Amino acid sequence: MRTKSMKVIDGKLYVGKYSLEYLADTYKTPLYVYDEIGILDKIKTFKKYFKSKKLNCEVIYASKAFLAPYLCLLLEKEGFGIDAVSLGDMYIIKRSNFPMNRVILHGNNKSVDELTFAIDENVEYIVVDSYNELVTLEKLATEKQKQVNTLLRVNPGIHADTHAYIETSLLSSKFGESIHDEAILQKIVSVYQNSKYLNLAGFHAHIGSQINNPKSFTFEVKVMLEFIRRFQEKFNFKINTLNLGGGFGIKYLDDDKEIKLDEMLTEIIKSVEEGIEKYNLEIKKLMIEPGRSLVGDSGFTLYKCGGIKKTFGGKKYIFIDGGMADNIRPALYQAKYTIEVANRIKKDVDEVEEYNHLLSVYDVVGKCCESGDIIAQNVNIKEVYPNDTIVVYCTGAYTYSMSMNYNGLTRGAVIFVNNEKITEVIKRESLEDLVKTYNFEVKL
Ligand code: LLP
Repeated sequence: MRTKSMKVIDGKLYVGKYSLEYLADTYKTPLYVYDEIGILDKIKTFKKYFKSKKLNCEVIYASKAFLAPYLCLLLEKEGFGIDAVSLGDMYIIKRSNFPMNRVILHGNNKSVDELTFAIDENVEYIVVDSYNELVTLEKLATEKQKQVNTLLRVNPGIHADTHAYIETSLLSSKFGESIHDEAILQKIVSVYQNSKYLNLAGFHAHIGSQINNPKSFTFEVKVMLEFIRRFQEKFNFKINTLNLGGGFGIKYLDDDKEIKLDEMLTEIIKSVEEGIEKYNLEIKKLMIEPGRSLVGDSGFTLYKCGGIKKTFGGKKYIFIDGGMADNIRPALYQAKYTIEVANRIKKDVDEVEEYNHLLSVYDVVGKCCESGDIIAQNVNIKEVYPNDTIVVYCTGAYTYSMSMNYNGLTRGAVIFVNNEKITEVIKRESLEDLVKTYNFEVKL
């Protein structure tokens, strides 16, 4: 799954003006690369299809997928908001000079520090996850005598067709308060009714991630609109905002089902517009929170092949100079990736004979001391040699943001490429970065 502006020249893969080999050699590996043209294209699609004559439509990027100052600048320019889930996220976003009144704060267990920061920075909404959190927030807002805009995260109890770890809205999920729990909703309403400072603008729901079926979203719309009608009638409380969360899937493998983001967005808008009429609701603002679909398939990771091994048992491995520390998704979700040897797209006849007996099916594995450190399994590769550049596609979401220093590995750099322009948006971690919190002064 090559990115938008990739092409092959003389058997080598290029993004914009640069060969992937050049990028790997220059910035060292593992290297996270974003094809900026691909991201700009996605932004365009969201702007074009997520709009309505009847509603104010806001796209809030879910920064948990990937967060860097340069991306904040791009999003700011395009009028998007950003969803943060921690003090750390908010700090990075603020340091990137992103307007904090376009940030919304999520999280199922927000700390007092996080709530305080969000109130002080006048974020657009704090998305309240639970009754307990609401009580804490009410106390803080009263102490500060500050108006706070909120959405309430509810759990609509919808099964989305995706990996169990990234389903978020089953009746047993930890997120939000259930739309079916009238007792808790009553307690929540009372807090709002008695509060001088808290405003409940509307509801938020997020049914999961990597969802391919548009029907999951139109069903979510139906359930949420019916709930809003019931809620308004029962509690005599008017709300004007609906946030449907994120979750739009991307294609990772050639065989994956085609996902048409434009059609998915059009269907969502249509079902909300129709539902509002049908239930006679006064929803004025509609929000979505895409993460993966905005950055996932425009990002890829580059590694160098350290060697090839054929075990006595017959298994063939390609060793790469990264692995589960920079991409935990295969180990965590059995995620599948497409890979290529970036400098050997066309067969090169003069290659070294000694490796020819290793042709065919490989597992591409990392350097961590774990047998589960597998980035791709059973990959067909014609030719691969030590020092070749290996590209793993569609790693733009939930890779760098979920990376770690296991086995003392340092994180690679992140670059954005836009034709001839390269922007190093996150530097490679140094050994000094690795140990900056370690206390070497300790004595026995
Ligand atoms: N909004 C909320 C409240 C969320 O919890 C999430 C993702 C999103 C928006 C963005 O969802 P997206 O559009 O990216 O699907 N680490 C997992 C994905 C976890 C998603 C968590 N929440 C993975 O690598 O597949």
